[in-house]
Amino acid sequence: MVIEYTEKTIEHFQNPRNVGEIEDPDGKSMEGNPACGDMVSLTIKVEKDKISDIKFKSYGCASNIATASILTELAKNKSVDDAKKISWMQINNELGGLPKIKIHCSVLAVDTLKSAITDYERRNGLLKEDPDELNEKNIRQRLKSVIDPQTGADIISKNIVSNFNHNNGEISVNLKICKDYESSEVIEDEIREHLETLNDFESVNIKYSCK
Ligand code: FES
Repeated sequence: MVIEYTEKTIEHFQNPRNVGEIEDPDGKSMEGNPACGDMVSLTIKVEKDKISDIKFKSYGCASNIATASILTELAKNKSVDDAKKISWMQINNELGGLPKIKIHCSVLAVDTLKSAITDYERRNGLLKEDPDELNEKNIRQRLKSVIDPQTGADIISKNIVSNFNHNNGEISVNLKICKDYESSEVIEDEIREHLETLNDFESVNIKYSCK
């Protein structure tokens, strides 16, 4: 399969910005995508509530490198609160559009930044809400990071999730797709990967329903 990248994506892949690792960072993170096995790590330095420096290391594909590269450009010199608002859609738009099967690379980059910021806030006692607490808001947030490679959209916005609930660490997720939907395996893997790091997580039960 030939993957068509925009010129800007290729440019960032070939000349990635802010590559490396900050010594003695104020926040750091490493996130991966279970479906493709790619990973990215980030280190940030925060001064006067601003991200004064940010560096990444990629262990992945061309768009893993390009999305992390442009993310660092967008986040550098932003306040921590503004950096938290950077979305995968913004990364995607900045690069002029990624192929659908590569949209998850932009989600991975943004999730890694959020984790690095959470790490910074945790170290400094600034965490207002714990993003790892097992509650409805955090489950929804994590399901929003699961991308259907068929549509290039997340499974919450595309209404692929009909509902979900949790009880004693067991999470049930009901999907409005057939088990034999082309990307159901990828979606299932990503749901597990995103939910299993919640505190007190015990198991996830994914059910399919289609007409
Ligand atoms: Fe998975 Fe790029 S991060 S293919």
